[in-house]
Amino acid sequence: MGQTSASFRQEAQGLDESISLSEVISALSFAIDLTEGAVHGHALRSCLLGMRIAEEAGLSSEETTSLYYALLLKDIGNEEMIGLRCDRGASIVSKLGMGPLAAEAVRSLEEHWDGSGYPKRARGKRIPLLARVCAVAQHLDVFSMGRSPSVAIETLEQWSGTWFDPELVRAALSLDRRGALWTYCRASDSHEMTRAAVLDLDPRKRQRLDDRQIDRICEAFADVVDSKSHFTFRHSVGVAELARGIAKNLGLRSDRVRLVRRAALLHDIGKLSVANTILDKKTRLTDAEWKVVERHPGLTRRILEQIGPFREIAIVAGEHHEKLDGSGYPKHLMAADLSIEARIIAVADVYGALSEDRPYRAGLRYEEILPIMRALAPRKLDGDCVNALITLIGDDRGVVYESPVREMAGACA
Ligand SMILES: [Fe+2]
Ligand SMILES: [Fe+2]
Repeated sequence: MGQTSASFRQEAQGLDESISLSEVISALSFAIDLTEGAVHGHALRSCLLGMRIAEEAGLSSEETTSLYYALLLKDIGNEEMIGLRCDRGASIVSKLGMGPLAAEAVRSLEEHWDGSGYPKRARGKRIPLLARVCAVAQHLDVFSMGRSPSVAIETLEQWSGTWFDPELVRAALSLDRRGALWTYCRASDSHEMTRAAVLDLDPRKRQRLDDRQIDRICEAFADVVDSKSHFTFRHSVGVAELARGIAKNLGLRSDRVRLVRRAALLHDIGKLSVANTILDKKTRLTDAEWKVVERHPGLTRRILEQIGPFREIAIVAGEHHEKLDGSGYPKHLMAADLSIEARIIAVADVYGALSEDRPYRAGLRYEEILPIMRALAPRKLDGDCVNALITLIGDDRGVVYESPVREMAGACA
C-alpha cells in the first residue's frame, strides 16, 4: 500500500528542507505534459535541447536564465486557441516571477521566421530571440519522439528560413554533427536521467525559495488546473481557502495550515491528464472513463513526489478522494491511514464540488449541501472537520465559496 499520510505524519516532525525553483518547476512541467496531446517529458527534453542550442549560439547568461524557465513552462497556457494560449501562458509565467524575457518568449512561441505564425505574424529578428530558440527546441523534441532524431534534424533543415531562424538551425545542426545535441533526450533515456540533467543546468541552482515564493507557485499551478474546464474554474483555489479555514478552526499549527493549503491548491493537478471530453461530459461516465478519472489522485501524488520537500504534500493531496470507511479511491484507505490534514482536504473538496455546477447538475446552495455533508460524517468524512467547516461558513458566509460559474452566469445575465 505504501506510505500513507498517517504513517508519514509520525516520521515527518521537524522536517525542514530548502527547495530550488527548478526543482518545483521541472516537476510541475511534467504535469503540463500530461495534458491531452502532449508528449510525456516534452518540457524537460525541450529544456535540454534549447539550452544546448543557446550555448552554441552564444546567448548571454541573462538570456539563458530566462530561456531555461521559458522552455520548461512554454506550454502552460492550456487554452484551445493559439493566440489565447500564448497570452495566458505569458501571463502565468510573469505571475510566477520569471521576468519579461521568459514571458515574451512564451507569448511569441508560435511565431514563424517568415511571418506566417501567430499571434502577431512577426517576422525574422522581430520575433524575440528566446521564442525562436523555444520553437526550434520544441520542433526537435516533437519530431524526434514522434518519428526519430534524424527526421527531426532533416525537417529542421527544410524549414530553416521559413519557420525557423537559420542561425539557430545551424547551431542545432552543428551540435548534432558533434553528437552533443541529443544526450538524455532520446526515447530510451529515463525520465529521472533527463530530469537530473535539467536540474544540473539550472542557472539559479543555489537560489532557494522562501515560503511566499513557494505559495505563489502553488497558486499559479492551481490556476492552471482550474482553467482546464469551466466547471472547475476556481475549484482548487476555493478548496484551498476552505481547507485553510478548517485547519485554522481546528487549531493546527501555522506550518501545518500552510501545508494543508498547498496540498489543497495542488490536489487535482493529476486531473490535467483527464480529457475534457470526460470532465465536461453531461451523461454518466462509462466504466473505462471512470477508470481514467480514478487515476488522477495517484498522478497528483506522483507529480508532487518529484519535489523532495513536497513528499508529505504529495501523500496528503493524493488522498483527497479517500474516505474514512474505505469506500474512497484510489487506495481504499481507512480512518487509521488518514491524517487530519488529508481529512480536512477531503471535506473541503466535497463541499467545493457540491457547490459548483457540474455538466449534469447545477451547483447546490449551502442549505442543500449541509445535510449531505452531515450524512457523510462521521462514517465517510471526519466529523470534526465537517463541524469546523460549518463553523467557518457560519462565521463568515460572505467570503465562503460560491459557485463561480453561477456567479459568472449571473453577472452576464
Ligand atoms: Fe479530485
Ligand atoms: Fe477536487
